[in-house]
Amino acid sequence: MLSFHNVVRTDFEAVNQLIIDELYSDVTLVENIGQYLVEAGGKRLRPLLVLLGANALGYSGTNHLKLAAIIEFIHTATLLHDDVVDMSELRRGRPTANANWGNAPSVLVGDFLYSRAFQMMVAIGNMDIMSILSNTTNVISEGEVQQLVNAKDPNVSEENYFKVINKKTAALFEAACETSMVLCNATDKQRQAFAAYGSSLGLAFQLVDDALDYEGDAQALGKNVGDDLAEGKPTLPLIYTMNHGTAAEKDLVANAIRNGSVEHLNEIVALVKSTGGLKYTHEQAAHHVQRAKDSLLELPKSDYRDAMEDLANFAINRDR
Ligand code: IPE
Ligand code: IPE
Ligand code: MG
Ligand code: MG
Repeated sequence: MLSFHNVVRTDFEAVNQLIIDELYSDVTLVENIGQYLVEAGGKRLRPLLVLLGANALGYSGTNHLKLAAIIEFIHTATLLHDDVVDMSELRRGRPTANANWGNAPSVLVGDFLYSRAFQMMVAIGNMDIMSILSNTTNVISEGEVQQLVNAKDPNVSEENYFKVINKKTAALFEAACETSMVLCNATDKQRQAFAAYGSSLGLAFQLVDDALDYEGDAQALGKNVGDDLAEGKPTLPLIYTMNHGTAAEKDLVANAIRNGSVEHLNEIVALVKSTGGLKYTHEQAAHHVQRAKDSLLELPKSDYRDAMEDLANFAINRDR
């Protein structure tokens, strides 16, 4: 548990229990794969956002626990699918579900988690929440498809990259925040502010994720580094390097993207450092985290709001 989980510790533990309880199925393989992923942990940042938002506004019901579990199920479903698409082998410090059971069970259990999330949403019965989350899941899949289209294309622009990370990552952070405000009958101002916090935080989080794919440590991250290059993903560290390096450096990176090849990974890691690609990516992340923190000023001051600020700092200083 990270320090900012402490202010909502009781709720957080209840959500973890609910996540386990809601994995029930009479098909054993569904439960096995579901539990395997859930047991491995994960940072649970998105459900935490729901809990912090609800507590910051003094919510007194129990639907925030359900909402938090729903958001984590949607996140876990996207990871199951993402690891198939990215052909990743390590997740949360363990072999991915696709590495263990193969692609087909991973895709199908991902569908199970998505649909369980929607069953739980119906149980909450709030049309605004259903509307936000159905739009969000749709946007996430668009982001993942656009990313697939961009793969192995070294000419993807910075603008296009930002569109992808907005959709595939920031959208769910934003939805976690916005739906928590809906649950609390927050004012429009509060709702917009916390949604904006989530969106900026999500952008920063993915920017750092993309930097860590070149400079991180697999042990700490619980997932392999270099996966993005192996997939030929034109992420910001590479886009910047191609725009600012010499012609030869640009060619080296562009060819690695075209071929989805890690043959020159070490040289490319050195290049994203020396040309400032990683530094630029971190600067962008810091910029969005500042925006996230500014948005928080619309919420009442409390320990929960302080934790939101800590979480924003963690997004840019993390190694996992
Ligand atoms: C991984 O998200 C996917 C990205 C958006 C980069 P997390 O880093 O939050 O994954 P877990 O849930 O902690 O494993
Ligand atoms: C985030 O992208 C995945 C989703 C939002 C579904 P990545 O592909 O960078 O995430 P990791 O690195 O596999 O966790
Ligand atoms: Mg991936
Ligand atoms: Mg990544």
